[in-house]
Amino acid sequence: MTSIDSRRLPEHIAIIMDGNGRWAKKKGLSRILGHQQGADAVREIVTASRDIGIRWLTLYAFSEENWKRPAHEVQALMKLLNRFLKKELEEMQENGIRLKTIGRTSRLPKRTRDILLDTIEKTSSNRQMTLTLALSYGGRQEILDAILKIAARVERGEMAADQITEQTVTDALYTSGMPDPDLLIRTSGEYRVSNFLLWQISYSEIYITPTLWPDFDKNEYLKAIQDYQKRDRRFGGTGAGSKE
Ligand code: FPP
Repeated sequence: MTSIDSRRLPEHIAIIMDGNGRWAKKKGLSRILGHQQGADAVREIVTASRDIGIRWLTLYAFSEENWKRPAHEVQALMKLLNRFLKKELEEMQENGIRLKTIGRTSRLPKRTRDILLDTIEKTSSNRQMTLTLALSYGGRQEILDAILKIAARVERGEMAADQITEQTVTDALYTSGMPDPDLLIRTSGEYRVSNFLLWQISYSEIYITPTLWPDFDKNEYLKAIQDYQKRDRRFGGTGAGSKE
């Protein structure tokens, strides 16, 4: 098994889970079965993250653009999410995992929203790791929602326009209070950001693997973290670790 340096772990890992459909096609199975297998990979990576000691894990589970998929596929994804949340609650409690969501979750079906709210509430005092699911999420929409929030504050006279700083924007995003991702992983070999955490990934290290999401296991995950640990993060500065 791949070894990593536990003293230099990324604090926050974000993952674009891609390739469920291709995995299914390769095996002559339906896309839905690909998503089912993808849900098993989610389970494995959540557990692995907790075991490794990752504090923040953010998964792109459903994008704003995913609403364009056929209704039966959207329904199947929601069902899988419901089932995942109900099945994993006990595991989350035992392992100190807190659930959070980012995105326009008001668009999700009522049943999914109810299960999400229940899980978020029950796990809210857990402190080992925060699992954030991006649901009905789009990076541009998030930035737009932040701009609208800030503009309303200016309009109400609560702040002047020239007082807006990077921090004001950071605090108005869905991810307010979360650290930026140190490592962004994308599976299935696509070199795209796909509207994910656009503001937050400014200085993230990116790791792209050809492995399709359902095949992405703990060992693949450790390889990504090991690769991250070899990088020299300069944040636009010159020396190791300098942040500017
Ligand atoms: C991409 O595969 C995957 C998604 C649509 C999002 C991820 C969804 C899951 C892993 C399923 C369950 C999620 C949870 C949180 C339990 P794709 O369909 O875009 O693959 P393709 O590009 O090969 O068609």
